[in-house]
Amino acid sequence: MMLDNFVSAEELARQAGLSSKVCELIRNKNLTAFVITLGCQQNEADSERIRGVLRSLGYTITQDETIADIIIVNTCAIREHAEKRALSIIGRYKHNKTRNPDTIIGVCGCMPAQEHRLNQLKHSYHYVDFVFGTGSLHRLPEFVYNALTKGKRMFVMDEERPKIAEGLPVIRESAHKAWVSIMYGCNNFCTYCIVPYVRGRERSRLPEDIINEIKALVDSGCKDITLLGQNVNSYGKELEGGYNISYLLREIASLEGEFWVHLMTSHPKDASDELVHALGAGENIANCFHLPLQSGSDAILKKMNRHYDIERYMSIINKLKQTHKDIVLTTDIIVGFPGETDDDFEKTLDIIKQVEYDSVYTFLFSPRRGTPAYEMENQIPEHIKKARFERLNEVQNEISRAKNEAMIGKTVKVLVDGKSKNNDQIYTSRTEGNKIVHFEADEDYTGKFINIKITRADTFALYGEI
Ligand code: 5AD
Ligand code: SF4
Repeated sequence: MMLDNFVSAEELARQAGLSSKVCELIRNKNLTAFVITLGCQQNEADSERIRGVLRSLGYTITQDETIADIIIVNTCAIREHAEKRALSIIGRYKHNKTRNPDTIIGVCGCMPAQEHRLNQLKHSYHYVDFVFGTGSLHRLPEFVYNALTKGKRMFVMDEERPKIAEGLPVIRESAHKAWVSIMYGCNNFCTYCIVPYVRGRERSRLPEDIINEIKALVDSGCKDITLLGQNVNSYGKELEGGYNISYLLREIASLEGEFWVHLMTSHPKDASDELVHALGAGENIANCFHLPLQSGSDAILKKMNRHYDIERYMSIINKLKQTHKDIVLTTDIIVGFPGETDDDFEKTLDIIKQVEYDSVYTFLFSPRRGTPAYEMENQIPEHIKKARFERLNEVQNEISRAKNEAMIGKTVKVLVDGKSKNNDQIYTSRTEGNKIVHFEADEDYTGKFINIKITRADTFALYGEI
């Protein structure tokens, strides 16, 4: 095994020592911690560990940012909008520090892993006590100890291939749904994407660590597990033993218990026939697949450095459809990539109509400093991007609605999330393909599987009765 994938036992022991010191320092002070998360599921998963570590240091987790003694902002850098939000959130915590100079403020996640953002935090946000990269989360005890003892501000960025820290404590948001990271980082360097620069190169967890985590989750009543990675299809490549994502799925399929497993997310260039078949390895592998297309034009895919063309992409989609009846398919699309012509965009619409995805996540291209696409000529004006975005959603919404309406009269198994936010009588649940199903109930089935007969459908949700 590639043991240099992992943070050493000595370093974990050093952090445990600092953790005891923090516990000692804040004992009987009733201090609270608040963690705010922007961005993707990977960040959500990281924040669950940040909360776990903070609790192990002696903090109580609070939802009230106004009174928190320590605030951590877990940032995202995937699009400009996410960065603007992160900076504005960090900005508002200046007042917390003014009110209570002992407040500790930390910033982590993808944004500060870019040099210009790190410098900005250093020089324009003096009240931020520490900044750390996604691969340095296990050093949180050290950062907090340093801040409590009024040491110098800390700015700790990751090495190019950060190490994995196993066994960190975790506080999960939900008792019945869980994220399980199977790998970290990305090697693909799609020309629009900042992720490989901020999350470093790919590294995989060991299969036994993943399986043990899933077993423990299932034993504790967890019903829905999402295997996370920037490109789960290249899981295990650098491990010895010939492990891959199909092996992992087959192992998970053989576990006892009633639960669903989802994958997030897959790169088409690595979606093998073996993986298509492994999706059928057992009842607990959810019958759905998220396969980011990004663009329907071969010319644009090439400029995006995606390493597949439409012929190859469609062959995977067709295999998925042939092998798994009623599979739910979803995708990501970027509109307005530099040089995208009306003709390129029409090709994207064509694929959307051909595939008939259940839903599509559409993004306006956002130039990220440091990526090749940032420098490309023929950047598309905002108004054209927006017009394409709206047109694409119009086309997809019609498809989503038709697909949802086709479910009227069917009985589907759902996992109940809980009461609806807006109506106390209504519950919200999800199908294995992640479609939202609302229903009325007198009894609370939260966290349980039940069957719902679908009676009504619209573009974004299904409605039915038990
Ligand atoms: N601009 C717009 N969308 C982007 N994505 C990644 N980088 C960018 C960018 N610079 C989208 C891709 C990816 C999803 C998670 O975010 O579609 O699949
Ligand atoms: Fe970004 Fe491409 Fe890696 Fe996905 S596969 S994280 S889009 S570089």
